[in-house]
Amino acid sequence: MTAQPPQVITIDGPAGAGKSTLARALARRLVWSYLDTGALYRALALACLDKGLDPGDQAAAEALAARLKLTVRPTPEGTVILVDGEDVTDRLRSPEVSRAASVVSAWPGVRAALLGLQRALGEQGRVVAEGRDMGTVVFPSAGLKFFLSASPEARARRRHLELLEQGVAGSRESVLADIMARDEADSTRAVAPLKPPPDAVAIDSTNIDVEAVLNVMIKAFRNRFFAQDEPD
Ligand code: DC
Repeated sequence: MTAQPPQVITIDGPAGAGKSTLARALARRLVWSYLDTGALYRALALACLDKGLDPGDQAAAEALAARLKLTVRPTPEGTVILVDGEDVTDRLRSPEVSRAASVVSAWPGVRAALLGLQRALGEQGRVVAEGRDMGTVVFPSAGLKFFLSASPEARARRRHLELLEQGVAGSRESVLADIMARDEADSTRAVAPLKPPPDAVAIDSTNIDVEAVLNVMIKAFRNRFFAQDEPD
């Protein structure tokens, strides 16, 4: 054995790269928990919208983040989120909430308010955590990090199908435009911008399916922690 298995594996990457699907699949394979940190920003964004607040109003969003009571339950299937005691998990995936989440997540006070909660969840151990700054800011010493990307067109195609399955209407063009706008905002913000951690295993999933990406991840896990080098 080369090292102790890590308590946290991180997966970062842009919107629609397949992070949630892969984090869930990896967690299931390892019998670990899956932590979707985008859901925290989405829950805050939803609370902003529900209260009639403008997500672009920094002071309002930061004040709400400081007082909101978020309860997060990572499970192998997904991340269940309660806002002030109400389960909002099923309301987090709409395009409106996606856009508002990208806006609120740029505010430094919002990120600071959610940092302790994310680290506390990681300390429970055996967690696959996915987001934008998992390997760079929240869990910089994670034992294994992945950066998952794909072309904007491939990401828009997958996200469009996902939304159709959830009964959310919209054209693929509008999904692509949303994805490009979110990429730009998430990568250029001043605090914790999306960028590959220097020590991450980079995977481009444009032309490979979920099973193939999962195999790359499992192989990296074994090679890193159990020295079971396998031929390609
Ligand atoms: O992964 P997602 O689409 O559910 O994320 C929603 C938004 O939250 C995304 O536009 C950027 C933000 N986010 C973030 O800034 N940091 C994270 N760790 C996770 C998500």
